[in-house]
Amino acid sequence: MGILSTKHFIGLEKATKQDIQTLIDYGYMFKEVLDRPIKKVPSLNGINIANLFFENSTRTKLSFELAEKRLSADVINFSASSSSLNKGETFKDTVQNIHAMKIDGIVMRHPTPGSCKQLSQYVDSVIINAGDGTHEHPTQAMLDMMSLHEKFGKLKDLKVAIIGDILHSRVALSNIYGLNKMGAKVMLCGPPHLIPPCIEDLGVVVTSNLDQVLDWADAINVLRIQRERMGIGLIPSVREYRDFFGITNERLSKIKREIVVMHPGPMNRGVEIDSDVAESDQAIILDQVLNGVAVRMSILYSLLGNEKELKNEKK
Ligand code: CP
Repeated sequence: MGILSTKHFIGLEKATKQDIQTLIDYGYMFKEVLDRPIKKVPSLNGINIANLFFENSTRTKLSFELAEKRLSADVINFSASSSSLNKGETFKDTVQNIHAMKIDGIVMRHPTPGSCKQLSQYVDSVIINAGDGTHEHPTQAMLDMMSLHEKFGKLKDLKVAIIGDILHSRVALSNIYGLNKMGAKVMLCGPPHLIPPCIEDLGVVVTSNLDQVLDWADAINVLRIQRERMGIGLIPSVREYRDFFGITNERLSKIKREIVVMHPGPMNRGVEIDSDVAESDQAIILDQVLNGVAVRMSILYSLLGNEKELKNEKK
């Protein structure tokens, strides 16, 4: 076993508090590398990584690729839309053929929940989940937690509200698992039909009263309305959604203190968040993106590097 207690990084449900803290600590170390004139270290020299994206992505795909290159890994990129899947090749054949090229690590995004676990049964590479359907997006939760830790200096007892379409959100589930483990307090807010049944069993408070949430929270993580994953009728009117759950300056100005505003992206401006909020000083949305590169370097390094090299990095 390496620096972490697990071989893969498939989800935060079973991650340990120590693993999460280690990844944040190394995230700060790698963020310092990103500020250097030459933003590159040899930590993963000779390691081959395949990025398999079966679903669209901007931030996760590019930040993984950048993180891998900053660590000097050799990288190949697979995009389902231009692959032999379109000629009828199966998922199993596809990943086993890629793995046969001597791949050490696979980063995968896939629309099917549980697909990373399935992948781990087909290949013996290290597997990192870059988002599996509506299940988990653990590296997003890691960058969210690093950004909160950076802003507040702690996670314990921090009051974090996750607002919006919780039902379709892998970001929400990974954040709930991670924040709970780190001792933060989590409240969920959204339309009742976009909150999964029994989610309170995970130790979170659920409400549909946004003003109550804004009064309580130190930070809010605003989620995208995932219209591509919804059936007909879950959002009868975008305008009505904005009226009840949209984060607007008007709404934020009613509370007497400043709360930190986060969004994992991509944003539906004018729906779940207004442009003037997203671009305000209280929003840390682009800081989250930068921390995404640092914490993904931390995850890649922790799973695919070795401790001797890390000690040399620290010197
Ligand atoms: N936050 C996030 O996962 O964004 P992408 O879909 O662009 O990767």
